[in-house]
Amino acid sequence: MPAAAERPTSPAAVAHEPARPPERLVAGPLVLRRMRAGDAGDIAAAVGESLDHLRPWMPWATKEAADHRSQLARISEADELWQAGTDYIYAIFAGGSDADGGRAGSGSVGSGSVGGGVAGGRDGALVGTIGLHRKAGAHSAEIGYWIGAAHTRRGYGTAAARAVTSMAETLPGVRQVEIQCDEANVASAGIPRKIGYRLDRIENHEPEAPGERGRRMIWVWECAERGARDGAG
Ligand SMILES: CC(C)(COP(=O)(O)OP(=O)(O)OC[C@H]1O[C@@H](n2cnc3c(N)ncnc32)[C@H](O)[C@@H]1OP(=O)(O)O)[C@@H](O)C(=O)NCCC(=O)NCCS
Repeated sequence: MPAAAERPTSPAAVAHEPARPPERLVAGPLVLRRMRAGDAGDIAAAVGESLDHLRPWMPWATKEAADHRSQLARISEADELWQAGTDYIYAIFAGGSDADGGRAGSGSVGSGSVGGGVAGGRDGALVGTIGLHRKAGAHSAEIGYWIGAAHTRRGYGTAAARAVTSMAETLPGVRQVEIQCDEANVASAGIPRKIGYRLDRIENHEPEAPGERGRRMIWVWECAERGARDGAG
């Protein structure tokens, strides 16, 4: 959108030539597809139906964000950021013909099929968005997400974040992946906890949305640990 912890980086911020992630990922019952202009209407509608659900945590969750034109502008910005190699934002779909039918939330990181799926298949209904964000010179990348109010507690957030974590591990230079959320956002914290991220620290911050308490949890996934964890599992 960019949305969520989706804090766009300046396009000039990543100096190296970026390796692009796949534009489509299959994650159990979900398909994650690079956001495109044709999604603007569905995103605006999903945001509009979920404003009360999103407002406590997402500073961008205003009536304007439920407007088609405003989403078109955000998607155009997201396109530039994808090209620049700083922010990769996917629309999340459920119930499509390419999803593998696996149980949401099950499996280890790495179990999603990166770049999987058959081109041209039906993606399904849009249920949210998720982004991977990189900062200049940093070896960590950050994931931000939201799932529409009508689709929560089905494991979709976990399945999408697991697939993006797995994808991030394939990008050159990414040594760790972070998920940040305010301590009061219990639903969001449930996702890194379920995947197996480690709570690295809690930092004080200026609340940016009405539900926030001002204590930001920084959850970390160390890419180097992946082989050891998978081996141990
Ligand atoms: C946070 C959010 C993405 C969770 O999406 P979701 O698809 O419902 O998450 P999942 O179904 O994968 O839930 C994973 C775990 O998180 C926890 N969780 C999720 N929703 C919860 C809730 N409302 N209350 C308590 N725990 C919750 C649970 O531990 C859950 O596992 P369980 O269902 O097996 O108990 C969704 O609620 C949302 O979009 N919230 C508003 C936007 C937001 O906060 N974005 C993140 C900003 S940091």
